[in-house]
Amino acid sequence: MDKTEKIHSLFYGFERPSFKTKNRFVRSATYLGGADEQTGEISIAEIKKHAEIAAGGAGTLITGLAYISPEGKSFKKQWGLHSDERIDDVSRLAKEVHEFDSRLIVQICHGGGQREDSVAKENTSYSPSGGKHPNCDFETQPLSKDDIRKVVEDFAAAAVRAKKGGTDGVEIHGGHGFLLTQFLSPLTNKRDDEYGGPLENRSRIFYEILKEVRSAVGEKFNIWFKISIEEGVEKGYGQEDGIALSIGLLKKGADGIDVSSGTSYSVALKSPSTIGVSAGESEAPFKEYAAEIKKHASEKQIIILTGGLRSLPIMAELIYNKTCDLLALSRPFIAEPDLINRWYDEDARPTACISCNACFKTAKFGPIDCPILRDRNEGNWDPL
Ligand SMILES: Cc1cc2nc3c(=O)[nH]c(=O)nc-3n(C[C@H](O)[C@H](O)[C@H](O)COP(=O)(O)O)c2cc1C
Repeated sequence: MDKTEKIHSLFYGFERPSFKTKNRFVRSATYLGGADEQTGEISIAEIKKHAEIAAGGAGTLITGLAYISPEGKSFKKQWGLHSDERIDDVSRLAKEVHEFDSRLIVQICHGGGQREDSVAKENTSYSPSGGKHPNCDFETQPLSKDDIRKVVEDFAAAAVRAKKGGTDGVEIHGGHGFLLTQFLSPLTNKRDDEYGGPLENRSRIFYEILKEVRSAVGEKFNIWFKISIEEGVEKGYGQEDGIALSIGLLKKGADGIDVSSGTSYSVALKSPSTIGVSAGESEAPFKEYAAEIKKHASEKQIIILTGGLRSLPIMAELIYNKTCDLLALSRPFIAEPDLINRWYDEDARPTACISCNACFKTAKFGPIDCPILRDRNEGNWDPL
C-alpha cells in the first residue's frame, strides 16, 4: 500500500461486532464547561458543539466527562448523568450526532478528590485514603467498603442511563487523576485492605466496575476504559502498571481501551494534553503504549490512541502498523470542528491547532473554545 492509499484508508468504515463507524477519527472526550451548575443539565451550546463536530466529519464523538453522583462531580459547569432526569440530555446529544451518521460514546467519571474548590464546598469529597489530592487544596474522606460499592453501582446506573438515552456505548474515565487513578496511584492509595498495596488490589475497583456495568447493560453495549498508562510524576505508578491493567481489562471483556497518559499533576511533558506537539515531529507521544496493548486485544476489541495526533501521514502509519484501531483528537477539534471534512475534501495539511492549551483557560467565559484560531461566535448556536 502506498502513502496515499494508507491515508485514504483512514476515511473508510471500521467495524467490530459491537461497533461500526464511518471512519477512524474520534473526537476525544472534551469537557466543555457549559452545563447548569445546579442540575448538571447539558446546555444547548454543548449539544450544538457536538453536532458541529459530527457535521464536520468525525466518525465517533466521546462526550466530555459526565459525573455519576453529586460527590463525584469535579467541575462547576460539568454535565451530570447522576439522575434519570438527565437521560433526555443523552437522547438530545445522540439525536444530533446520529443525524450525521456518527457514533456517540458517553464518558462517565467520578472525580474523587480532584474537584474545583467551589464544588468541594457543595458536599463531602472522597478519595481512597483521605488527605489532599496532589492537585487540590482541601481534605477528603477515605471511602469505606460500602462507599466503594456505591461508586461501583453509581457507574452502572450512569451507564444504564446512557444506554436508555440511545448512545452507542460508555467510556469509563480511568485516567487523568480522577478517582480511579487515585486508586491506581501508590501516592494517593495508602489502603491496607484488598483495595490497596499490590497492583491487583489497586486495580480491583476497575474490574468491579467493568463487571457491574456489563451485567447492567448487557453484552452488546460498548464499554471502553480511558487509561493513563503512566501517572507521569515521581514515585507515581509507571507504564508497567498501566499496561498490565489495560490488558487485564481486555481479558475481562472491556470492548475498548482508550490509551492516554499522565495526570493533572504530571510534569509538563508527561501530561495528557502535551503542550507544543509539532506535526510530523513529536506526534503521538503515547503510541508505544498502544502498540503494546494492541498485541493483547482480540479481533473484536478496539484500541483507541489519544494524544498529540496532528497529521494524516503519521496517523495513516499508526493504523497501517496496527498500533491502534481508532485515532482520537481533542484540541484539534476545538480549533477546527470541520477538520475531517477539510482533510477529506480540500486540504490535507496538519491541523492548525498548535497545542498551546489556551483552550483550557477559556472555561471561565463559558463553553471552552479556541481563543487563538476560532471566532468565539462562529458556529451554529440556534436553540434546538
Ligand atoms: C479543554 C479540554 C477538555 C478535556 N476534557 C476531557 C474530558 O472530559 N475527559 C477526558 O478523558 N479527557 C479530556 N481532555 C483530554 C483529551 O481528551 C485528550 O486526552 C488530550 O487533550 C490529548 O489529546 P489532544 O492532543 O488531541 O488534545 C480534555 C482536553 C482539553 C484540551
